[in-house]
Amino acid sequence: MRKKIVAANWKMNLSFQEAEELIEEFIDLLSEEEELQTDIIVCPPFPYLEMAGDYAAESSFKVGAQNISSFQAGAYTGEVSAGMLKSMGVSHCIIGHSERRKYFHEEEKILTAKVNQALANELIPIFCVGELLPEREAGKHHQVVRKQVRHGLFHLDTNEFEKVIIAYEPVWAIGTGMTALPEQAAEMHAYIRSLIAERYHQDVADRTKILYGGSCNAQNANQIFSQPGVDGGLIGGASLNATEFFTICKNAQ
Ligand code: 13P
Repeated sequence: MRKKIVAANWKMNLSFQEAEELIEEFIDLLSEEEELQTDIIVCPPFPYLEMAGDYAAESSFKVGAQNISSFQAGAYTGEVSAGMLKSMGVSHCIIGHSERRKYFHEEEKILTAKVNQALANELIPIFCVGELLPEREAGKHHQVVRKQVRHGLFHLDTNEFEKVIIAYEPVWAIGTGMTALPEQAAEMHAYIRSLIAERYHQDVADRTKILYGGSCNAQNANQIFSQPGVDGGLIGGASLNATEFFTICKNAQ
């Protein structure tokens, strides 16, 4: 039985004070719920990671980054390395989010390098894949996701691959209020798992955690997370409200 995971992707939102209030409110809710079986990962913007880490040390959630450099270290102004994040207690890192693919032109070679950097520095990659609306409408969603998974991850050996969390985020469902139908999510998750079984082994596929992301909220999370093969969610907008995010975490159990 794979344990459910719910990850918050705050994206580029909130002032420092708002971020701190959100975490404090969330921790209060968490502390009232002793039996929560969900693994929770909070991914704030870089400048808030230390603050989030301080709170996480006293609570049960983990802290992830939203991005890392594809380089190890050196003269790369403005970049943040996986090693730096690891040294400050960050455990996870989102890689390949569609917003980074789109606005920052992160292509396959860069994403592969980022995955390698994360693993070399003992960060767990949350590797995002997902098709655009025209790609789904043209029936190309499997082809697109297959290419993303293959190029981003299938160079890894089994041992490395097993550390990765995959997030299926159909781009048309991100921030649009247009969630994938639970059956569409389940179908794509099963497809991704079949690719993993083909490349590695059925046992590896069965152990791989695959999250769903895209307009998840307190109302629909239960229905999506209870689909076979859906191991939780990567939550954007709804993670900016402590009560809503907490409800999603509870619904994931
Ligand atoms: P929304 O939940 O706001 O649709 O964002 C999903 C997402 O992109 C999480 O990474």
